Amino acid sequence: HSKHGMDMPGMSPGDGKTAVPAASPVLPEGAPLRDLPRLANRASGPGRFEADLTAKPAIARFAGGVETPILAYDDETPGPLIEVTEGDKVTIRFANHIPGEETTIHWHGMPVPAEQDGNPMDPVASGADRLYAFELPEGSAGSCWYHPHPHGRTAEQVYRGLAGALIVKPRQDPIPAAYGDTPLFFTDLRLASDGSIPPNTMADLMNGRVGDHVLVNGQKKPVLTLPAGSRRRFRLFNASNGRFLRLTFGTAPITLIGSDGGLLEAPVPGLRVIDLAPAERAEVVVAFDQPGQVVLRTEDVDHGWMGPGRPDTAADLMTIDVTADRAETAPALPAKLRRIADLGPPVATRRLEFTETMSMGEGGMKMGFLINGASFDMNRVDVVAKAGQTELWEIANLADMDHPFHLHGTQFQPVETERDGRVSKAPYRAWKDTINVARGETVRLLVRQEQPGLRMYHCHILEHEQLGMMGVVEVRA
Ligand code: C2O
Ligand code: CU
Ligand code: CU
Repeated sequence: HSKHGMDMPGMSPGDGKTAVPAASPVLPEGAPLRDLPRLANRASGPGRFEADLTAKPAIARFAGGVETPILAYDDETPGPLIEVTEGDKVTIRFANHIPGEETTIHWHGMPVPAEQDGNPMDPVASGADRLYAFELPEGSAGSCWYHPHPHGRTAEQVYRGLAGALIVKPRQDPIPAAYGDTPLFFTDLRLASDGSIPPNTMADLMNGRVGDHVLVNGQKKPVLTLPAGSRRRFRLFNASNGRFLRLTFGTAPITLIGSDGGLLEAPVPGLRVIDLAPAERAEVVVAFDQPGQVVLRTEDVDHGWMGPGRPDTAADLMTIDVTADRAETAPALPAKLRRIADLGPPVATRRLEFTETMSMGEGGMKMGFLINGASFDMNRVDVVAKAGQTELWEIANLADMDHPFHLHGTQFQPVETERDGRVSKAPYRAWKDTINVARGETVRLLVRQEQPGLRMYHCHILEHEQLGMMGVVEVRA
């Protein structure tokens, strides 16, 4: 691959279909939804989480007896659920047993010190190990995740299986325990007819990879059985490289209670749809009042597909089988969930422009995914910010495709979105670390980094990140 844009000798965008498999194997469906396996905490006292985690090749059997070579954390895909509590001291001894490839673990959404962030400047060599150690600040509870972030290999390592949920629990959880707390970790899978995971095609590189299957906790269309009258809390994670999700629970109304960075200040009831761009998360409560079947589904999303052959991305993801037994009447959601800090007026404004370029060069077409006209260079600082200072970040998408913007090191607060000169204010305060910036839109965010160091920001379509749509902010003390 090339670090600075994608060379496509003799190809025009959209006709790179060479590696698309003829027929993907059929995956079994309808098994009971499994709980994610958990990473065991071997700390003896409270307030600590200590574990080992290994990335290595493994064999998965998605399609019955067909063997699929994957990459896995501790032999699992998705990786084991890491469940910690705000304020915990976390130490994870990570071993890279991937032959011939460096990797990192990035703690997506967690405000860890810059040198613990697993960014591309800090690779773990093949065969090496390193200790990740950080303390989770108070108020950092949320639905985070972890994935590799090595230079030039992130997209491939993630679609081969490396991604897991990292849930930071609040010390006091205002959501009734009777609702449960069920993570639904969505990943994207493409299988060739021999069961292998094929590499990215030209269309994947341009549009973001969209495979043949959306898996929920590693399963195709699992079934969750609940008694009528149940209320359920779900944490929804879009851990796919490039697939946009538009989730519905049949006609059941959805109450939004949390975003990437934890609970909202108050529940937002009466929603029908939850949009999750790649890397976004949400916490919801869904009421299952009547017996019958409710299908969790993703509707088709067009995020500005380039070239022919846009896939229909609608799919049934999971069935909720609501039985006639009545659940005990669950307590109501509290009207107030928590307070979210006011970041105050910004003292500086940054503008980041996202563009796509296509040019004919020596040997063929060259495509670039750029921020402020530049392709990622890890030896360049693009923005200098000051720790503890609130800034207004203006992300302008001047391209033909939606680009989900992600910033490391902190959670930000969406302020407003501008489209065709019309501004719509964010309807409620929320902590986010990833936000979709639709084509033609400008999104404004309040950003405050608390810790010094180098931090990445990028499009979280991992194919775009890898092709250069990433920059570095240096946060100074
Ligand atoms: Cu989820 Cu820079 O990453
Ligand atoms: Cu991140
Ligand atoms: Cu993008």
